Amino acid sequence: MADKLIPLKIAGIGYCVPETVVTNDDLTKLYETSDEWIYSRTGIKERRLVSGNENAIDLGEKAAKDAIAKSGIDPEDLDMIIAASAAPIEIYSMGCQIHKRLGIKKQVPAFDISAACSGLIYGLSIAKGLINSGMYKNILIVATDNNSKLLDWTDRGTSILFGDGAGAMVVTASDDGVDDIISIDIRSDGNYDHLISLPFSGKNCPLVEPNDVLPSTIKMNGRGVYAFVVKILPNYVDNLIKNSGLTVDDIDYLIPHQANVRIIQAVQERLNLPDEKVITNLKYYGNTSAASIPIAIVESVAQGKVKLGSKVVLCGFGAGMTWGGAIVRLREGIC
Ligand code: COA
Repeated sequence: MADKLIPLKIAGIGYCVPETVVTNDDLTKLYETSDEWIYSRTGIKERRLVSGNENAIDLGEKAAKDAIAKSGIDPEDLDMIIAASAAPIEIYSMGCQIHKRLGIKKQVPAFDISAACSGLIYGLSIAKGLINSGMYKNILIVATDNNSKLLDWTDRGTSILFGDGAGAMVVTASDDGVDDIISIDIRSDGNYDHLISLPFSGKNCPLVEPNDVLPSTIKMNGRGVYAFVVKILPNYVDNLIKNSGLTVDDIDYLIPHQANVRIIQAVQERLNLPDEKVITNLKYYGNTSAASIPIAIVESVAQGKVKLGSKVVLCGFGAGMTWGGAIVRLREGIC
């Protein structure tokens, strides 16, 4: 264990979304809805979904390779893989699947965390502790979700929201004394577990409990989630900034979890941020769970909406209920 804290560097960020686009108009073939209804309540116009044999491991592999290439590190120098997935294709374990896909020979620890849409920030918080303490140097975080395969596509209140996608970050020990995570905080309140759930539908031994079990799907009380998040998140993000010793004027951009544009606007209004400082891309991807923040970072940098060398607030929330926030520096060259 190091005597003093080792600073963390965000070295590379990558993402991958599937090719197949499903628009709001397409969804009218499944149930009674309209583009106007969905867009006005969520800000979503279309989402990307996996097709054929494509799955969250494929997306995660591509996002990871993208992040690793940008970080400039050799995959063999990674010494931990954390997979954040709330809709995995393999319960044992997405992290190990990514390890295999990257062809890494070293037998480094790889594991999954499940904090739903807050998974990227939870992963970043774990990685920060491990790097700051000197236990690990180079950690890959992969957030990848196959939401489309766990949705009930007859439930028009829930299935309109989600899309598939993956995002990845490589974080390393920094050699210039600067920690790119200025502040990070993660929270949960299990008393609100009923707002979003995905019950496991395994079958017991037939000698104990003969039964037929229907495949389980994501169940969401949309109105309840909205009310809960709008109540806690704006103040939470405001306090995160204040507690870090910064002011809102020090923040260049807000890059929030992309779940609902009205929730993002509630945070924006609380912080009194102009539109050009608030990044949204859910119009084209819907809610890609834990992947939504890295996808939004890389895409907004590529589009010139976010300049590197800036200070950014990330915030997310998800099933559990879980939530979290981070103030990070985005260095030149990381995406
Ligand atoms: N198209 C048309 N009508 C729909 C619909 C759809 N896709 N989905 C639901 N409705 C109907 C409902 O059946 C209901 O009709 P009723 O009044 O006749 O019963 C009516 O619209 C209102 O439903 P409600 O669920 O109260 O709508 P809402 O205004 O709360 O919007 C969400 C629903 C899901 C868009 C909104 O609650 C939301 O975005 N919540 C946040 C969810 C979230 O962020 N989840 C991710 C967490 S990581």
